[in-house]
Amino acid sequence: MDTLLNHIREKAGTEPVRIALILGSGLGHLAETVDGVAIDYGDLPGFPHAGVSGHNPKLVIGDLEGVRVAVLGGRAHYYESGNAAAMRVPLEVVQALGAEQVLLTNAAGSFRKDIPPGDLMLLSDHLNYSGLNPLIGEATDRRFVNMTDAYDPGIRTALKAAGTAEGIALEQGVYAWYSGPSFETPAEIRALKVLGADAVGMSTVPEVILARFLGMKAAAISTITNMAAGMSDEHLSHEHTKAMAPLGAAKLEKVLRRYLRDLA
Ligand code: HPA
Repeated sequence: MDTLLNHIREKAGTEPVRIALILGSGLGHLAETVDGVAIDYGDLPGFPHAGVSGHNPKLVIGDLEGVRVAVLGGRAHYYESGNAAAMRVPLEVVQALGAEQVLLTNAAGSFRKDIPPGDLMLLSDHLNYSGLNPLIGEATDRRFVNMTDAYDPGIRTALKAAGTAEGIALEQGVYAWYSGPSFETPAEIRALKVLGADAVGMSTVPEVILARFLGMKAAAISTITNMAAGMSDEHLSHEHTKAMAPLGAAKLEKVLRRYLRDLA
């Protein structure tokens, strides 16, 4: 870990970062607008070979709206390797670089007609529908992480205010993690709905567990790319996700920029 941190600090400087951002499918644009240094995941041992198209596997450290940030332009998903802790090293790194909070973004399928494709959903909580956990095998008592208010109420209030200031609706809802990579069946979606989910996706939950484990605050926003399986006539595919993500991404970028400006 020390060698890795030294390598990063040599390239990006030693000033601590305040916020880490993890960008989901089709949301990588923001990383390119950071005034700073980009390091390929390939040059960072322990970082994933983020192999999903639509991601930008670089760690970018620098200034965004007056706040020093570390942007993880790509994420590893459980379904790529069967490792729910695939994002542990990147999260340990941003924590060691000083990040006090992690803002996560993802693409998700909505269950709610009032949060249609193109809209954003602020996560209020999650359902870990997978039965997996990135802390399985962690040997210390630190593994018993408190997940109440895992999606930090203070950050959520600030993000909602940023949305209001930008004229962008930010409904809150519960995100269900489904391992993927196949999409859900309509029966699974009906079941998840009964359980209390408002949207479904294949990421974020293991990262939020890791962030809380590492003592960082977390918040997450979904860009809704589709109604969940069985809820509309859309044909679900990764192509569809990538094609639809830019609709919400523009709104997401405005909300995040406003949030950072207010913080700066
Ligand atoms: N299901 C799971 N993951 C997703 C979806 C979905 O409908 N849309 C975008 N990511």
